[in-house]
Amino acid sequence: MKYNRRKFISFLGKASLGFMVTPPFLIGCGNTAMPVKTKRLSEEKFRQLKDLALEALSPSNKDDLLLTKGLDYHVIVKWGDKISNKDSFGFNNDFTCFIPFDKKNPKDGLLWVNHEYVNPLFVSGFNFKNYDDPFRHRTLEQVDKEMYNVGGSIVRVKEENGRWNIVENDPHNRRITAKTPMQLNWDHPIKGKTTVIGTHSNCSGGITPWNTFLSCEENYDSFFGETEYDENNTATKRSSDYGWENFYDYPPEHYGWVVEIDPKDGTAQKHIALGRFAHECCTLYELDDKRVVAYTGDDKDDEHLYKFISSKPGSLKAGTLYVADTINGKWLALDWENQPVLRNKFKDQTEVLIRAREAAKLLGATELNRPEDIEIDPITGNIFVTLTNNKSKNDFHGSILKIEETDGAFDSLTFKTSTYKVGGEENGFSCPDNLAFDLSGNLWMTSDISGSAMNKENWPYMPFKNNGLFVIPRYGKDAGKVIQVASAPKDAELTGPWFSPDGKTLFLSIQHPGEQTTDLKTPTSKWPFDEDNIPKPAVVAITGVLIEKMNMLNQIEM
Ligand code: FEO
Ligand code: CA
Ligand code: CA
Repeated sequence: MKYNRRKFISFLGKASLGFMVTPPFLIGCGNTAMPVKTKRLSEEKFRQLKDLALEALSPSNKDDLLLTKGLDYHVIVKWGDKISNKDSFGFNNDFTCFIPFDKKNPKDGLLWVNHEYVNPLFVSGFNFKNYDDPFRHRTLEQVDKEMYNVGGSIVRVKEENGRWNIVENDPHNRRITAKTPMQLNWDHPIKGKTTVIGTHSNCSGGITPWNTFLSCEENYDSFFGETEYDENNTATKRSSDYGWENFYDYPPEHYGWVVEIDPKDGTAQKHIALGRFAHECCTLYELDDKRVVAYTGDDKDDEHLYKFISSKPGSLKAGTLYVADTINGKWLALDWENQPVLRNKFKDQTEVLIRAREAAKLLGATELNRPEDIEIDPITGNIFVTLTNNKSKNDFHGSILKIEETDGAFDSLTFKTSTYKVGGEENGFSCPDNLAFDLSGNLWMTSDISGSAMNKENWPYMPFKNNGLFVIPRYGKDAGKVIQVASAPKDAELTGPWFSPDGKTLFLSIQHPGEQTTDLKTPTSKWPFDEDNIPKPAVVAITGVLIEKMNMLNQIEM
């Protein structure tokens, strides 16, 4: 199953909700959905595009979304906005993914947005910092508000006269929340259930070849805690940060999965075969025989990188989950049946998948420095993985790992690794998180310096100031350089980059502006500067001549 760029190019972006015959497909978290033309541009145009000069933005600590020359933005939807008579847009938007209704019209479609977590101070009015024993003071009403504001949103969005707006009350508009029932895609119940309640911690995600959304449950233990096992395999329950388990008795094992959502009716299911851990994203590749390969990372210090290879076409259930030994370049099977070390410890394959982290460690998987987003290079088929940082190992600035599967085959069980870029002052970025290739194969990247360390004297992050958006051009004089093109509002992180099918818009989430606020009367940010005078997470559309020019290079036959 060799990587075939022609195949990739010919099918890249044939995603559309009306296009029901599933095309061969390659697309990932934050990747794009564009019918790629290969017409040759004029020599003059070609020269101009190759000479395209990007003006780098200097790091800034200003409370604003700053963009380099040639880019503009407008807010599409923000926390609290009505999306229908019944529902409003949730908090802390992360992953975004846009699928047009009709591939011939890239300006009208459905936008999926993850809502990762809440800041109770803003959402439910509860200030944890006011109490030594906060859980004694929490109310059901507060927890219910918080549960409503996580999960995801489906909104119909349309571009008219250069501006994207939501189509309020469109029948597709709906919320998926921490209370939405959903099926487990598995033959065995988990903690006695085959249908579970809700999703939360929805960080990044992906898209399937059959045009549904994938949403990844990352820091799930923050909400309902975790079951932990000692050396005698005795279980204890660790409590959560938010204390939802004091109001709703939902087992931790129902969370930490990859969730698939049908855009058309909002039906959701959780994919057990992809394992349970702090999933950052899920990036799919469809093989020629329609089996799928799914890459997914566990965003925690010293955790692992996984890939699932299905044994049946279009299945995210039948198949094998592997974990990476990056030292020896091997994918190790989390297979209870055939791995004695797993049979000794776990009672069955379901338990292996629920306790995937422990199983991975028993197999000798390599500990990585917070593997986050994963994208497949559209030109080479190489796989890029951000390793955000690992402060406990003195890796403060992170790096981008490159994986080359043997013979370019995505179902290969061996691979080579190398470091593509290292974070730090020399390269002008720190803590890489989300990635997205544009239509020309330029790599876009966001940073995630944590709010508690950003702009603080006692951390090595001062030179980078606020978080940013960066691009690594593929061509021309800046090829391979990391160039900052946006700077986030105070305390915020830029997340969920996703290109519209015509390459003219970059959808981007502005997550947790003003996160360090302790008093609503004096918020640390007021972005997006609306009448409420408090910070609000929002999804923006980034447009402008620069984005169009960078995406036009794709029209050149290479
Ligand atoms: Fe939610 Fe790993 O970022
Ligand atoms: Ca992230
Ligand atoms: Ca992150």
